Amino acid sequence: MSDAPTPVEKNAFTLKDNRNGDTYDLDILKGTTGPDVIDVRKLYSETGCFTYDPGFTSTGSCESAITFIDGEKGILRYRGYPIDQLAEKSDFLEVCFLLIYGDLPTEEKIERFKTRIMYHTMLHEQINYFFRGFRRDSHPMAIMNGVVGALSSFYHDSTDIHDPKHRFIASTRMIAKMPTIAASAYRYSIGMPFTYPRNDLSFSENFLYMMFSNPCEEYIVNPILSRAMDRILILHADHEQNASTSTVRISGSSGANPFACIAAGIASLWGPAHGGANEAVLNMLDEIGSKDRVPEYIKKAKDKDDPFRLMGFGHRVYKNFDPRAQIMRQTAHEVLGDLGIKNDPLLDLAMELERIALEDEYFVEKKLYPNVDFYSGIIYRAMGIPTSMFTVLFAVARTVGWVAQWNEMIEDPTQKIGRPRQLYTGEVERDFVDMKDRT
Ligand code: SDX
Repeated sequence: MSDAPTPVEKNAFTLKDNRNGDTYDLDILKGTTGPDVIDVRKLYSETGCFTYDPGFTSTGSCESAITFIDGEKGILRYRGYPIDQLAEKSDFLEVCFLLIYGDLPTEEKIERFKTRIMYHTMLHEQINYFFRGFRRDSHPMAIMNGVVGALSSFYHDSTDIHDPKHRFIASTRMIAKMPTIAASAYRYSIGMPFTYPRNDLSFSENFLYMMFSNPCEEYIVNPILSRAMDRILILHADHEQNASTSTVRISGSSGANPFACIAAGIASLWGPAHGGANEAVLNMLDEIGSKDRVPEYIKKAKDKDDPFRLMGFGHRVYKNFDPRAQIMRQTAHEVLGDLGIKNDPLLDLAMELERIALEDEYFVEKKLYPNVDFYSGIIYRAMGIPTSMFTVLFAVARTVGWVAQWNEMIEDPTQKIGRPRQLYTGEVERDFVDMKDRT
């Protein structure tokens, strides 16, 4: 965060208890942009009441200087840089540097950073034995979760979270090794030997190489696919205090080691309401099957009694287009076009679904727009990546966001262990009943 103290507007709000006329003055903390926050830290001690906000729809959990989102305007910026400019002009490792250090690097700094990351992409040979404990048909997210959690059993030299050197090497290892773990999870599932990373390739080229190379012949990475992959990784790198990032922060607030915290983030990301939505979108499109069935599924999505939701639509923050979805849609057209895929039935179906949904008053009234997950799977499938790997790729990208947010939290002098309270609605005190007296 910025070194300057956060501006405070003293007593900007007065809260009145109408039951007894008591009033309480509350301060406003002012950010550099976006909504200010009402400081309620003293509310319980002064009023005896907790605030109540399940799902944290109106709650700021922390101060951060990393990512800014304006849901009404469809704005997403990493350290102030708009996402569309970064997607077009930057590359993933440069965005990693930006998210972690706060500024775009000089030529010399980025070369040093890239070398450092690429020289930590290998896994300890013993780690490969962890993969062999899984069934071959295990979901790769289950494998990634297990292997990342196990990293703390290898890297005792980087688990002291209060040592900046430990945090530096742990952060480097996490960013660098996630593609290797992801590719190994995929190759294990198809019975292919693991691939060692190549330091002469870029981050995205190396990932595709580890995923698809064949030991029996030379493999040349398709530049169209590596550029698209790099852009997709940029789009997924960070996103403010989303569910998985909040999971990493609250896990880290107890002092847990960084590998365990990232494993917790992976677990949260897996949910279909969050990062698992990209896989759910493809499964949904496969289930819909053809354009003529779209109205049937739009009807299901609107039916309160039907648990079906239009996957890849809606967002807690974006009540306008998700800027990432727009870039993703454009990328889908580019990649499919460059690959000579003229009429991809899946893309056609997705476009028809989007068109009908955006004309439907239910989606318009509830401000439900396509989100980042709606188009990503179409690109992944064109790349030959299986549906079960989609959320794994999301985790590869989001690791830098988790790492940047985790470091920011540890370095925050006001940081405390995260420990929310509750509204208790259970039984009040009652005496134990012996078995003979129970009915
Ligand atoms: C990601 O937070 C982040 O930043 C996440 C993320 C990131 O980069 O980290 O952006 C990545 O997780 C994107 C979201 C991917 N998930 C999906 O695509 C799953 C489908 N979407 C929904 O489950 C939902 O929209 C959420 C979970 C994304 C947001 O849910 P909210 O904010 O809690 O909103 P809600 O569930 O209260 O919905 C508001 C209303 C409800 O109707 P009412 O009860 O008011 O009548 O909108 C309806 C919902 O039923 N609704 C949908 C819908 N999403 C919301 N109805 C049909 N289809 C949908 N997709």
